Amino acid sequence: MIRRFIIPILCLAAFPVCAVVNKDSGYIDSLMSIMSVDEKIGQLNLPVGSDIQTGLTEGSDFEKLISTGSLGGFFNVSGVEKIKKLQKFAVENGPHGIPLLVGADVIHGYRTIFPIPLALSCSWNPDAVRRMARISAIEATADGINWNFSPMVDICRDPRWGRIAEGSGEDPYLGCMFAKAYVEGYQGDNLGSDSTLMACVKHFALYGAAEGGRDYNTVDMSKERMFNYYLPPYEAAVDAGCESLMTSFNLINGQHSTAAGWLTQGMLRDRWNFKGLVVTDYNSMPEIASMGTSSMEDAAVKSIVAEIDMDMVSGMYVKYLKQSLAAGKISMDMIDRACRRVLEAKRKLGLFDDPYKYCDNKRAETELFTEPHRNEARDIAAQTFVLLKNDNNLLPLKKKGRIAVIGPLADVENNMSGCWAWAGKHVTVLDAFRRAAGDKADILYARGSNIYHNEVTQRNATGIKPVPYDKDEARLLSEAISVAESSDVIVAVMGEAAEMSGESASRVDITIPDAQRELLKKLADTGKPIVLILFTGRPLVLDWEAENIMAILNVWFPGSEAGDAIADVVFGEKCPEGKLTATFPRNVGQIPLYYNHLIPSHPDPDNAIFNRYCSNYIDCTNEPLYPFGYGLSYTKFEYGKPELSSTTLEKDGFVTLSVDVRNTGEYDGVEIVQMYLRDPVAQIARPVKELKDFRRVLIPKGETRRVEFTINADKLKYYNADLKYDYDPGEFQVMVGPDSENLQTLTFTAK
Ligand code: BGC
Repeated sequence: MIRRFIIPILCLAAFPVCAVVNKDSGYIDSLMSIMSVDEKIGQLNLPVGSDIQTGLTEGSDFEKLISTGSLGGFFNVSGVEKIKKLQKFAVENGPHGIPLLVGADVIHGYRTIFPIPLALSCSWNPDAVRRMARISAIEATADGINWNFSPMVDICRDPRWGRIAEGSGEDPYLGCMFAKAYVEGYQGDNLGSDSTLMACVKHFALYGAAEGGRDYNTVDMSKERMFNYYLPPYEAAVDAGCESLMTSFNLINGQHSTAAGWLTQGMLRDRWNFKGLVVTDYNSMPEIASMGTSSMEDAAVKSIVAEIDMDMVSGMYVKYLKQSLAAGKISMDMIDRACRRVLEAKRKLGLFDDPYKYCDNKRAETELFTEPHRNEARDIAAQTFVLLKNDNNLLPLKKKGRIAVIGPLADVENNMSGCWAWAGKHVTVLDAFRRAAGDKADILYARGSNIYHNEVTQRNATGIKPVPYDKDEARLLSEAISVAESSDVIVAVMGEAAEMSGESASRVDITIPDAQRELLKKLADTGKPIVLILFTGRPLVLDWEAENIMAILNVWFPGSEAGDAIADVVFGEKCPEGKLTATFPRNVGQIPLYYNHLIPSHPDPDNAIFNRYCSNYIDCTNEPLYPFGYGLSYTKFEYGKPELSSTTLEKDGFVTLSVDVRNTGEYDGVEIVQMYLRDPVAQIARPVKELKDFRRVLIPKGETRRVEFTINADKLKYYNADLKYDYDPGEFQVMVGPDSENLQTLTFTAK
């Protein structure tokens, strides 16, 4: 009883309202010296807060968990009042008054929603991601949250996987840059500040390589592929100082990621020297057993041995660790080690100095969804749009005549943000177009179709998000045709509904859903020029659209400012500048299709036609529809002849590649100049090209900019079959250009 009171009194006496962390690690030592085994195990438990959506009720399971010291925190509860109440209850009623971690999935904004991460990566602008993460941290901490389950850095080469939407695409170089930017944005340079969040890189590891693109499916991978392409972004997040990490759901080569010591100890702790907190994914621990790699009790044992510190949702640590300790299966050191990491995270966040530092009602009232945050979201959204096609310079549209806005996504507020969007307000395309056009143009509107013809398919796809189903499809269509016929130009707003990507949203048919595709074909039959505004959380197969639609602007899911950001680009206030970070296939059968592939046996000398006994398909070329790095602008860029400062790269030296890029079009514009390297003769086969650097350059119309890249030996290194990270001296190719297919090549020799 005495123990219960001493620490709260000490804590409260030392609770200044400040943004610095006063308690040092010695504080954790003394706290742990008076904690019981049960209390220590309790810190390792992370239940979901969904059953406290309406607040803590007396006698509830949550109240019991807190007062018995059986949890270290909770997640996915929103609202500062509710969180403050829980924190207060923990401080006043929990053993030793230990404050709680409050986690959440703030993936692309909190109240001000930014584009989905895949879209953000298409900006090729890590600074934009850093700013988005900074704003997310300000808003989430103002509302009570202190731990964010982001960034997701899983490399993905399979657009059938719905969670491709949550990552930064297929490329490890970009993946590393963005991983770092997210972490820096969330954590800032002072985790103890009341407006920074603890980041949590996920999902460790290789979750994006699920077989068949089916969520939660098995992963089997060579170590060469793992080290060279899939692991680097996790390591980059760790190097950037990310304080926590989440394991993944999948098996890797027959072992569950959450119980694979070689991964979480060997790689993460020993090789990368990660000192932070490791948490499982949602209810992963019992799955170690159900997926056939241990008994239930041993799942908890295997996890604590593998240095997994916190158990999300399952309660298995609370249930099994004490008895496993008594049975000698685990040591007290293992429990202490994990408990210390949880408490250390709380200390670094400053929760022991002030448990209410993230619960300031005033901040919650003034710092969420503010004008400056929304302006930033609008600006960043426009940078993520990728102009896939623009025949006859149909875009930008002039604000004149009659513009028909047609499609089931044109006027649905809740569909603008895609997966993982906490409630927020949204500007629809229709609203924004009406506002932008003012009295200069007539904006006509018809919904035109459902998402899918089949009501059940539509319901599965749109879940709780209200994209209403209308049984009278014939009426929808005839309204759309008459609106289309009376217009000068059609803006078709179509694609995936929000819940068709993200977790548990894999697809085998990655075309625009049937009802909308048919509507688009009928609209094309009117002969009017069409701009397709494409909403999607993944690369889609757009073979018909690429042939038949004049202009395609891929806007992904742009967030709360979607409508205005789209209007800015469609009406030419801003020039599109995004470039793809994931390949768009022509046919789902080509998947996995990615730019940095190896050379197959029997390579096809000419991908445009079928050549027997070559590595190809009878019924489709090997080429993508839109390659990695591709994206058009309203202006035109011309590349000069690239030059190398020397054709010899000395061991500790560097060579410079320079190229002039000229804006020959009618608009000022940003060009993303890309540099790729290839090692034609290596110890293990190396890709045909790998992105190694890029520049985003604003080039005013009529002007030229010289772009320079520095190449040193580090850029040539890779992991060989012995997992040694080095390069092979000899000839290298360096390529530069506007995307992964339009490249000019030079060669040099590395000593
Ligand atoms: C997801 C994680 C997420 C967690 C908590 C899981 O289902 O895989 O990405 O952080 O839930 O919401």
